[in-house]
Amino acid sequence: MKIFIDTAKLSEIEEAVSWGIVDGVTTNPSLIKDAIEEEGRTGGKVSLENYVKKICETAGEGRPVSLEVLSQDAVKMVEEAQILYRKFNPIARNVIIKIPINTCTGQGVSEYEGLKAINELSGRGIPVNVTLVMTPEQALLAAKAGGAYVSPFAGRIDDYSRKNLGIDFKKDDYFDLGLIDEISKTMLSEYLKNAASGVIPSFRSEKIRETIDVGNNKGITSGVDLVRKTIDIFKKYDMKTKVIASSMRNPQQVREVAEAGCDIATIPFDVIKEMLKHPKTEEGVKKFYADAVQAKYEELFKP
Ligand code: E4P
Repeated sequence: MKIFIDTAKLSEIEEAVSWGIVDGVTTNPSLIKDAIEEEGRTGGKVSLENYVKKICETAGEGRPVSLEVLSQDAVKMVEEAQILYRKFNPIARNVIIKIPINTCTGQGVSEYEGLKAINELSGRGIPVNVTLVMTPEQALLAAKAGGAYVSPFAGRIDDYSRKNLGIDFKKDDYFDLGLIDEISKTMLSEYLKNAASGVIPSFRSEKIRETIDVGNNKGITSGVDLVRKTIDIFKKYDMKTKVIASSMRNPQQVREVAEAGCDIATIPFDVIKEMLKHPKTEEGVKKFYADAVQAKYEELFKP
């Protein structure tokens, strides 16, 4: 599985690239805002344009950098995408344009602008990363429209389900798929107990279970479930669009999307660092060091 770093902070990109584990970079307007604010706090005075140029340069050739458009209608998104591509792609030939799957916010913009823009840009040979994908069916449409990448937002789906379920959580809590299964079983048994007729034909039980959409999330039980189902559909139909597991919040999610055979996971810097940690590794390093000192191990390194 490829690893992209989900950040616009130059220091983080630079550091992670030096570890040899980064295959690409994803940014979005919120990440750019954070990066620019931090840059300002640390006294940097670089223009946004130069900052983005540096991101492309630091990522380097062969490591795609996703840059997002601003507008919500297709014509403007295509215009912006072309400008971004013209301006920043020549630096390291690594620009991918991020287009939301659906830009409708209920204010006069149709539901289909995202698809139109994806289709138009892909037709012009500009690679698109379709963002804010929350269901496998959105991912399917994104792929059909020509998206080179789709980004299912696993973490935000976990946030959504947990909120709907009234579960108290921290952003980086792991959301256990088994838990929601248990909740659904409990809900089903409650439902059966309270069923008015008292007798429910057994052949309908599975049907009832399906109708209880736990987490009120179109039958998606967790962020990893969203990623897994998207991968399964793409595999089934031999679709070439790459899946980028996005909105990753903890190492266990990364492991599970890797197990699911995801092409790419885009991971925040802190989660990458977390992936490296284990108390037994730390304990082992301390013990090896202590024993090496006792064994006068340093003699081995004399030239
Ligand atoms: C993906 O490309 C997005 O930048 C990102 O994963 C969003 O993650 P968030 O939900 O943590 O903001």
